Amino acid sequence: MRVTTQAGKQSNVSHTPDNVAIKPQRMGFEFGQQVPRYWLDNSYLVSHTMNALSVLFPEGEQFFVDSVRAFRDQIKDPKLKEEVRGFIGQEAMHSLEHMAMNQHVRDQGMPVEEMERDLKVILGLARQLPKRHQLAITCALEHITAMMADMLLERDDVREDMHESMRPLWVWHAVEETEHKAVAYDVFQQVGGTYAERAFYQVFATTALGIVATWYTGRMLVKDRKNFSVRDAAKGLWRMWGKNGTFSSLAPAWAEYFKPGYHPWDKDNSELIARFKAEIQQYIAPQYQKGNRRTLQ
Ligand SMILES: [Fe+2]
Ligand SMILES: [Fe+2]
Repeated sequence: MRVTTQAGKQSNVSHTPDNVAIKPQRMGFEFGQQVPRYWLDNSYLVSHTMNALSVLFPEGEQFFVDSVRAFRDQIKDPKLKEEVRGFIGQEAMHSLEHMAMNQHVRDQGMPVEEMERDLKVILGLARQLPKRHQLAITCALEHITAMMADMLLERDDVREDMHESMRPLWVWHAVEETEHKAVAYDVFQQVGGTYAERAFYQVFATTALGIVATWYTGRMLVKDRKNFSVRDAAKGLWRMWGKNGTFSSLAPAWAEYFKPGYHPWDKDNSELIARFKAEIQQYIAPQYQKGNRRTLQ
């Protein structure tokens, strides 16, 4: 039995609860005519913000995978080793499913290819850093994804505002991000990552993500400017950054990361995983249902 309490924490083992299994699942989502252009709350600004985030995923998740894989041979705990396998497989599946979404966004005339090309250059710079610093960036961004995932699963209002043709992708991704939220972190702890590295790269990664996400959203908005409206933009900004906004409400969770003894499973939200995992089964394309499961390592 693994300990997940503060007091019993060891730095060389997995702290993912035993009732959480990290297994990749290809979904086979398709995006076509059924997806409205403004699929989130019918909002031009918010929909493009999420489209921009989606464009970041394939390249970004490859960076996460590579940064963890670099330490694979140093992991001693067999449970954590197995979880790294699951993590790599899950992120690979996320990339594939988001590539399908990004193709759809591209078909709407958005400059997805250029954005992907620029992201490759940016991540190429991050790849020049020492390996453990790259892993610290991954831990930081996995914390941000995990808190967004938790918010999405907790808040009915946020999920309900997503069009039904898009909701399963984001719910599925949120479930798996929650499942593997501690994998990179546990590897980082195991290979001697320090508090200073962790804290510094959280500030660094949040700033970089903020700049890139704003820049990318801006590129989408400019390309689609014929539909700009001040009213929509103001409403969307308030929704994301106002009182109880989807992003502003995450500030306390973000700050938790700076607690010296912090661990991603200090907040045990495994019940949300169980609930939504059951719900998303129905969206698995027939060719990927049980027995047809593929994993990429
Ligand atoms: Fe992911
Ligand atoms: Fe992840």
